[in-house]
Amino acid sequence: MATILDFYTAGESHGRQLTAILTGLPARLPVDVSRIDGELARRQGGYGRGGRMQIESDRALITSGMRHGKTLGTPLALTIENRDWSNWEQEMAVTPPDPKFASQRTVSVPRPGHADLAGAAKFGHRDMRNVLERASARKTAASVAVGAICRQLLEQFDIEVVSCVLNIAGIQAKGGLASDEQFWTRVEDSDVRCGDERAAQQMRQAIDEASERGDSVGGEFEIYAVGLPPGLGSTAMWHERLDSRLAAAVMGIPAIKSVEIGLGKAVADRPGSQVHDPIEVDRSKRRWPFVRPTNNAGGIEGGISNGEPIVVRAAMKPIPTLTQALASVELPSLEPRSAHAERSDVCAVPAASVVGEAMVAFILAQAMCEKFGGDSLEDMKAAWTSYWQRLRELWQQGGEV
Ligand SMILES: Cc1cc2nc3c(=O)[nH]c(=O)nc-3n(C[C@H](O)[C@H](O)[C@H](O)COP(=O)(O)O)c2cc1C
Repeated sequence: MATILDFYTAGESHGRQLTAILTGLPARLPVDVSRIDGELARRQGGYGRGGRMQIESDRALITSGMRHGKTLGTPLALTIENRDWSNWEQEMAVTPPDPKFASQRTVSVPRPGHADLAGAAKFGHRDMRNVLERASARKTAASVAVGAICRQLLEQFDIEVVSCVLNIAGIQAKGGLASDEQFWTRVEDSDVRCGDERAAQQMRQAIDEASERGDSVGGEFEIYAVGLPPGLGSTAMWHERLDSRLAAAVMGIPAIKSVEIGLGKAVADRPGSQVHDPIEVDRSKRRWPFVRPTNNAGGIEGGISNGEPIVVRAAMKPIPTLTQALASVELPSLEPRSAHAERSDVCAVPAASVVGEAMVAFILAQAMCEKFGGDSLEDMKAAWTSYWQRLRELWQQGGEV
């Protein structure tokens, strides 16, 4: 039985390393490992990140599932070392510590907005470091590494995934779906991943002001996937729908509190005539002649990709660790205290948009493997070619109903 494309990650924020295992990749897929590091660097960047980003420069090490530059069709394992590990070796040791060791980094005052209190209740930990070490978004580095591999699979089929920031601290910028190459160059060069330099400047200023107040800010970003075939996902079951899977994957990024597809929430306010995308035909497009003057559906109808670009928008809440800490209580004394504070980002919306791209790339690669999957890249490409052939026959010769 073919294995579904899926992944697991393990690793604590200040542990020795992060680990990811990716199963279900076809064999013979060329993977450029340096491009994984490139994606990790994109995640580490961004205006408003904390001091840790200066310490670490993430590097992925693939330890299995590849040989001589190509996948083997077996589980692919990779690790990313935490470069700060040497400062945490005793604190985060997996074996019982030396009896003389006294932890300096115990967390006893939960942060509002973080997993500390709920996680302590769930797992029964008294030291909430045991919760926050995994709740931390450090683990998203492993997801980004996985996404970088999925992206290389998608590229074999000319499918691309990009993103830009739309809003930081309420400062809005234009989205990028209809934008030219220059816009995308500006986004990639921008430390707030914003193609509008005026808005970008105001965003930086808002981040600086929040930082000075000991506060934090959130925002919104948009992810686009272009080049997709129609027919990915399914309408049959709620969990097979491409929209539900994309929403779950992006909502699974820490601090993401809303995910929209296409027009999203705005559909509620408009009549059907201003929401649904008319269907037209352009006979010069040989492969898929159906064109839509609008893309309010964000490329998905009935839970299935419809051949238009996929548009996913997400909102991120402000970072919960504040240097001007909010009111909380110490456990177990229940005495009022300021919440725990440690080195932290003030804004991580640009980084979250890179993580969002990775999660979208993963779900799309998974849906591609489901539809065209085989044991090797060549099997997948053969199924892809025959699908397009079938689609051509379907409308050109009437086909069988
Ligand atoms: C890229 C990224 C970086 C983050 N950096 C921090 C940080 O430095 N400090 C912090 O308290 N939260 C940070 N967060 C958010 C927390 O991980 C998140 O709010 C927390 O795990 C609680 O989960 P929830 O917000 O989904 O409820 C970051 C999130 C992302 C996506």
